[in-house]
This record gives sequence, structure tokens and C-alpha cells, in this order.
Amino acid sequence: MRIGILTAGGDCPGINAAIRSVGKTAITEYGMKVFGIASGFSGLINKEYAELDEPQLSGILTFGGTILGTSREKPYKSVAGRGPQVDKPKLIRNNYREMGLDALVVIGGNGTQKTAAQLSAEGLNVIGIPKTIDNEVFGTDVTFGFDSAVWIATDAIDRLHTTANSHKRIMIIELMGHHAGWLALYSGIAGGGDVILIPEIPYDDKVVARYLEKRSKNKKAYSIVVVAEGIVKPKGISAAHHIAQIIRKNTGLETRETILGYIQRGGSPSPMDRILATRYGAYAVELIAEGKSGVMVSSKGDTITSVPLADVGGKLRLVPADHALIRKSRKMGISFGEK
Ligand code: F6P
Repeated sequence: MRIGILTAGGDCPGINAAIRSVGKTAITEYGMKVFGIASGFSGLINKEYAELDEPQLSGILTFGGTILGTSREKPYKSVAGRGPQVDKPKLIRNNYREMGLDALVVIGGNGTQKTAAQLSAEGLNVIGIPKTIDNEVFGTDVTFGFDSAVWIATDAIDRLHTTANSHKRIMIIELMGHHAGWLALYSGIAGGGDVILIPEIPYDDKVVARYLEKRSKNKKAYSIVVVAEGIVKPKGISAAHHIAQIIRKNTGLETRETILGYIQRGGSPSPMDRILATRYGAYAVELIAEGKSGVMVSSKGDTITSVPLADVGGKLRLVPADHALIRKSRKMGISFGEK
């Protein structure tokens, strides 16, 4: 069998661990040929690929990013007003056949899984592997990349505590997550945030301000406010900056902002992400060997299983507003800014 593998969307720690697992399992256990496709779906459109042999898959477990490169290419998205459109899905179908592929492993977040579902509906044998620091891929409990990002963000929050305490300031830290608040919620709790604002829970300016004033009056020298980038809707407006302005205007307390940015996505994967990526990769190949396709590998409790791509594409797994962690945190006095 000949299998292709590509990585699409934003990178995250653990992708190379998954590529390694797919490749090594396919070659060692099943004698398959493995082809790495460059730069996400662009590589499939432009036929940029090369065979990956077993020695090439050694030594990449701990590397951040993706050895294959990635892109935000969405082959099904037509770009209005940009001249004649190329039929990219058709090019992909043709190239898949010309490359002699029996299956395609697509490692990506939720936009990528949607494309995977569309390609699968057109007859390609596609297996999805979910990855993203945002952790909001529908149909799985967890994506690799998330645990590493929680470590990085928690370390950053830990560091803010000492400088906040020295200067008696309000420190705001903005974390990624796109439309979801998983990263801000987990890092906020792990890092001892006092206020955690996530897109799933509407916040009230005055509630946030009053809460911080009360802490200040109660001799709390400083406060940490963790905000998810998705709490502000218009693109290009910083959530941290927006909240800082609200706090300054309503409290007069000295406030500083930090936007952690791409550091959250870079560097070596955590041990848990290496393990999850390895389990996902191996299972994806087992599914191919069993002749299965049109599914995404998924983690449910302690089990690695699979879900139909058709049930996943286009959906988001957001933080439930009554998530157990939120309920417990509220009881400790942590504010989510709601009225
Ligand atoms: O999906 C991962 C993510 O890092 C989001 O958290 C963030 O909003 C987005 O990607 C940034 O995208 P880009 O790499 O296109 O700037």
C-alpha cells in the first residue's frame, strides 16, 4: 500500500511525533510506502511530495513544528474577485490517483478535518488525525498540542506573578484558542489566575472591575487576569488591550498587558502530547490496514477510537459554560466575569 501524509493549518507541538508514528508503523509493521506531502493541501494541489523512509523518521519525536511544512490552503474555499478559479479539489483527486495513493492521512485542526471530510465524500480514502493547541476539534476529548501549550502558558503566568507582586499591578495575559477558551481556562486555573475570561462565558465590564477593586481593597497586592483571544469578536483587536482599557477606566488600578502569541505553539512537545500523537498515528495506520477510511482518530476517555469525518467537519467543541472545572473554580472565588 502507498499512503500519503500531510499536515495542515496552524502548527503545534507533537506533529512530528505523529508523522513518526504513522510512518514507522506503516513501514515497519505493514511494509507500506509512505509519502510526505509538503505544505498541507498546497502540496497535494502542486504535487510536491517525497517518499519518507524509516531512517528519515528517526530523531524527529522531540521537534516542534512539522517537518512537512504546513499552510492554511483550503481547497474548497473559492476566493471571490480573484480571477478564474482553479478547480483545486479536482486537481487533488487527480494527483492522489497519479501518485498511486491508497490512503491519505491528514493531520490538522478543525478546518482541516472539514476539508478531509469533503475529500472523503469525493471518494478519497482519508483518515484524519486531530491536532491543535486550541483543543476544540469536535469528536475527540483532546487534541495533541494542547498539553504543551498549557505548559508554556502556565509557565508564562507563573512568571507574571512575581513581577505583578513586586509592582502591585494588575497583569493581563492574552492566550490563543481561536473561538474556544480551553487554553485560557486550563492555563488560567493551573497558573492561579484570579479572573479568567473565555469566549463561551459572556463577561461584564463592571463585574470584572468591581472584582479587581475588591481584591485590591482586601489587601491582595496584585491580580492576574487571563483572557482568551476570542473574547473580542472584531479581528485585529487585542483582547488583552481591550480588557486593560476597561480595567484602567473603571478602577484606576495600574495595569499591564502581555500577549503570549506564537510562543504558545512553538518548541518541543510535552511528554503527554508525544504519547497522544504516537497513539493517534499508530491507530490511523491500523485503520488503513483494516481498509477503513472516512474517519478521524479520536480520544474518548482512555481509549483511542475513531469517529466519522462527516460528523466532525465544520463543528467546534467549545467549553461548556457549566464545565466541572468552572463550577469548582467559582466556588474558590475565581471570577469568570459573568453577571
Ligand atoms: O489554531 C491555532 C491558532 O494558533 C489559534 O490559536 C490562533 O488563533 C491561530 O492559530 C493563529 O493563526 P495563524 O497561524 O494563521 O496566525
